[in-house]
Amino acid sequence: MSNSVLQIRDLRVTFNTQMGELKAVRGIDVDVAPGEILGVVGESGSGKSVSFLAAMGLLPASASISGSVMLDGKELIGSKRKAIRSVRGKSLAMVFQDPLSALNPVHRVGDQIVEMIQSHQDMNTHDAEKRAVELLEIVGIPQPGERARQYPHEFSGGMRQRVVIAMAIANNPKVLIADEPTTALDVTVQAQILEVIQKVQQKFGTAVVLITHDLGVIARVADSVNVMYAGRNVESGSVQSIFDHPSHPYTRGLLSSLPHEGVDRLQPIAGFPPNMLAPPSGCGFAPRCQFAVDSCNAELPSLQPFDDLLTSCIRAAELRVGGQQ
Ligand SMILES: Nc1ncnc2c1ncn2[C@@H]1O[C@H](COP(=O)(O)OP(=O)(O)OP(=O)(O)O)[C@@H](O)[C@H]1O
Ligand SMILES: [Mg+2]
Repeated sequence: MSNSVLQIRDLRVTFNTQMGELKAVRGIDVDVAPGEILGVVGESGSGKSVSFLAAMGLLPASASISGSVMLDGKELIGSKRKAIRSVRGKSLAMVFQDPLSALNPVHRVGDQIVEMIQSHQDMNTHDAEKRAVELLEIVGIPQPGERARQYPHEFSGGMRQRVVIAMAIANNPKVLIADEPTTALDVTVQAQILEVIQKVQQKFGTAVVLITHDLGVIARVADSVNVMYAGRNVESGSVQSIFDHPSHPYTRGLLSSLPHEGVDRLQPIAGFPPNMLAPPSGCGFAPRCQFAVDSCNAELPSLQPFDDLLTSCIRAAELRVGGQQ
């Protein structure tokens, strides 16, 4: 996609650990256009967070990173730390699961937003304070003027996450990466935070990467979806196509694990993801896949166009013809 504001190609991340090399991300591509919400979904450990922490230059030195991360036409991989720092928080911002970790408990909320603005923009304190209050209003904090003078502990969990989003959008980023932003919140507050993210995307045309293990969240707000498994993208497409006619057996497993009428519990996919210290040379899902045949273990399958999706199952066409879905 040529109009991508964030374009990732063949991103690989390997951690040097005491037990050996852990291949956390094994060659992923990502495209996000301005104003698009891309959902990234997959089981725990599939490499969702590591992929985007790598893009933000936030991984420890034990991580070896290769591939390309282009933000608005600028390569981030291999850039100097200083160059990445100037992008982070400005063109590329991130919201994490735990809002407290992103806030300083001893500083007033408004001051923290002011600091965020002034670290990237040449704005005087009076204007930055006014802007901080505006930002709090945009993310739905009532009485933003008074709230700006309070400390993080005076806010509820949902309100803190709104503050973190206000900080993330303070410099009008081109891309907002939200990693499980609603996981720690109760269902009603979750919905409100998703609405705030959608409002930001609509009002400012921000491209959003929404990382979650919750397909319900994806169905609610995403335009397109990347399904990750064992450090790879196993399927990509529009949210409609992924939900309407998923091709990869893993995606289908995830979808059938969604609670539906009469079934109120998630049905986990049987088995476990592979050990990333020694990932299989073939399809990582094959050991858990009821449709696996010998050739699935032969080599790592790449994403191929299938219907209006990109899928990495070598049996996708066969399974559809055979009426397996
Ligand atoms: N700093 C690190 N050092 C070594 N291994 C790491 C490090 N960070 C992550 N990993 C490993 O990389 C793999 C991918 O982790 P990642 O955090 O990206 O998973 P995830 O898909 O975000 O999972 P979750 O849904 O639980 O957040 C896992 O095997 C994890 O143990
Ligand atoms: Mg994660």
